[in-house]
Amino acid sequence: MDGEGLSGRKAVVSGAGNGIGRAISLALAGAGADIALWDIDAGSAESLSEEVCALGSECISVETDVSDSYAVERAVSETVRRFGSIDILVNNAGVCIVNRFLDTGIDEFNKMMDVNVKGAYLVCKAVLPLMCSQGSGRIINISSVAGKRGYEYYAIYSASKFAVIGLTQSIAAEFAPCGINANAICPGTVHTPLWREPLEKLGKIIGKSPDEIWEGYMGDIPLGRPQMPEDVAEMAVFLCGDGGRNITGQAINVCGGQQVY
Ligand SMILES: NC(=O)c1ccc[n+]([C@@H]2O[C@H](COP(=O)([O-])OP(=O)(O)OC[C@H]3O[C@@H](n4cnc5c(N)ncnc54)[C@H](O)[C@@H]3O)[C@@H](O)[C@H]2O)c1
Repeated sequence: MDGEGLSGRKAVVSGAGNGIGRAISLALAGAGADIALWDIDAGSAESLSEEVCALGSECISVETDVSDSYAVERAVSETVRRFGSIDILVNNAGVCIVNRFLDTGIDEFNKMMDVNVKGAYLVCKAVLPLMCSQGSGRIINISSVAGKRGYEYYAIYSASKFAVIGLTQSIAAEFAPCGINANAICPGTVHTPLWREPLEKLGKIIGKSPDEIWEGYMGDIPLGRPQMPEDVAEMAVFLCGDGGRNITGQAINVCGGQQVY
């Protein structure tokens, strides 16, 4: 969205420092929103804040681990102290660890559930009372196409992303009377730093190079164009704007046709 469609709106983006979160932050700022950039990687959020400010938005970077309830409470306080309200929440922080199911350790399970599921739960829980008192709010939870079907070697990641859709649908139903819309976006395979370790690991499991695996993934996308973080960001901006006013409880694929349900 160009121009001032979200002018004056206050947004939180978790996992803002890289990949999809970075693109969403820049796109929301481009539409006029002020942004709190939350990330466990303080350096990446800090360097993004310069770019966001250059777009004319107000912006703060907050070092936050979304899986830590105290850190989340502190981040909400810091954001509200600076902005006074939170109108838009994008739960984007996430991690992806791939493995053969029988080799998946409890540490890997806990890591994905802690960041992808508990993180979204904690941040929603901390922000929803504020949105309720305002009588409005837009929540976007970043799930995945793997949140609608399982993929080989992605069992726990997929389980965590199914959970994100369940959380989203339930929050949408419970908080609709408060004027809050909650939706999930389900990206397909998008080129971001998230893929570095999974491609290496999959390479070892199936005996292919990371480049070969990536080419295989890209070959499964009917539209055939490389999927960019900006594709996901444009959907997020749409859902936060006037066009999204009657959309809630949905899990919307942005995947070039890679998955059709
Ligand atoms: N890239 C893809 O192909 C793809 C596809 C579907 C869904 N997704 C989802 O999109 C979201 C963003 O993925 P991405 O590809 O941009 O990943 P990325 O690794 O490029 O960026 C993730 C960001 O989250 C931050 N982060 C990680 N753990 C955190 C924590 N505990 N607290 C706060 N911040 C934390 C990281 O520091 C990083 O800046 C994730 O939820 C991911 O599961 C990605």
